[in-house]
Amino acid sequence: MNAWACAVCWCVCVSMRVLSVDASWWYMRYMSSVGSRVMCDNIPGLVSEQRRLCRQHPRAMQAIGAGVREWISECQHQFRDRRWNCNTVARDHSLFGRLLLRGSREVAFIYAISSAGVVDALARACSRGELDWCSCDPRKTGSWSDPAGAFDWGGCSDHVELAARFGHAFVDAKERKEPDARALINLHNNRAGRKAVKRLLSLECKCHGVSGSCSVRTCWLAMADFRRTGDELRRKYERAVHVAINQYGAALTKSSAAGRRASPGKNQLVYSDDSPDFCVRDHDTGSVGTGGRRCNATSQGADGCSVMCCGRGYDTARVSRSAKCECKFHWCCAVRCGDCSQTEDVRTCKEHT
Ligand SMILES: *[C@@H]1O[C@H](CO)[C@@H](O)[C@H](O)[C@H]1NC(C)=O
Repeated sequence: MNAWACAVCWCVCVSMRVLSVDASWWYMRYMSSVGSRVMCDNIPGLVSEQRRLCRQHPRAMQAIGAGVREWISECQHQFRDRRWNCNTVARDHSLFGRLLLRGSREVAFIYAISSAGVVDALARACSRGELDWCSCDPRKTGSWSDPAGAFDWGGCSDHVELAARFGHAFVDAKERKEPDARALINLHNNRAGRKAVKRLLSLECKCHGVSGSCSVRTCWLAMADFRRTGDELRRKYERAVHVAINQYGAALTKSSAAGRRASPGKNQLVYSDDSPDFCVRDHDTGSVGTGGRRCNATSQGADGCSVMCCGRGYDTARVSRSAKCECKFHWCCAVRCGDCSQTEDVRTCKEHT
């Protein structure tokens, strides 16, 4: 090989190394329901244990794939008026691109909600009877009691425990294989996500008895709407704790100014790296910037133009919409409306120059 070819080769290797963020099971968002074997082999980034589970449980994988679309849209809802809005990167096998290179709060949230999303999707698929290895929680039979008195288990209790066990086996497989510092952080956040789903389980009951006297109740354990899981994890994101790996490299400890070291709580989200400010497009941090994002001129919060646009200013466009108005009922029988145009000022952040 001549020197020039060598130089090209070296260059390609180096840039590939710098650019690549590991693919992950999150890519199952794009999964189609073609033959399961083909499908499992074509998802980039699955580790061998995940591939094994994929081949063994194709229908669970379909639920997980549909779940990815759901937790991503929940993530985007939670952060819709923030600089970082949970944007995904097109044609990227890790979905979030270089953002994932650091263990920031945002990445902590992504891990937690993705893991929660798997539990939610699987448990719902179990309850609908779509999976052969699980169904409604079979232990919820007979009589029981709560502070309001005795009741009978009835209906379908979501089998969150089984779903969480499968989620743990599937989602954590990659990090368990190479348990470095970042893996410990990811595993902690994955578990916090599963725990959030469990904590939001609640008892739902139906009353029976003479004229709704509720002398007899049948109850079941139901998962909360995934929106509530998103809300809960969003609160955990706000209170996420900064951690370091202890000297044995085996456990996380909270970094505190007082020098006191303690383990973070199992329900807390943990992160190791500060977040970028997400103001401008930055290839290294995976930030796409806030240029072109819509902002609110009167809000003092994160969606306000000064915060959202990072002081770069904004453009205002007067947008008019036509709407039906002054509708009148004419005898008989028609409703006639006028066309009114409403104007609205839409403000968008200026691009970074
Ligand atoms: C802008 O923010 C203000 C104050 O927070 C709020 O009352 C208003 O509804 C917001 N406008 C839009 C279009 O979201």
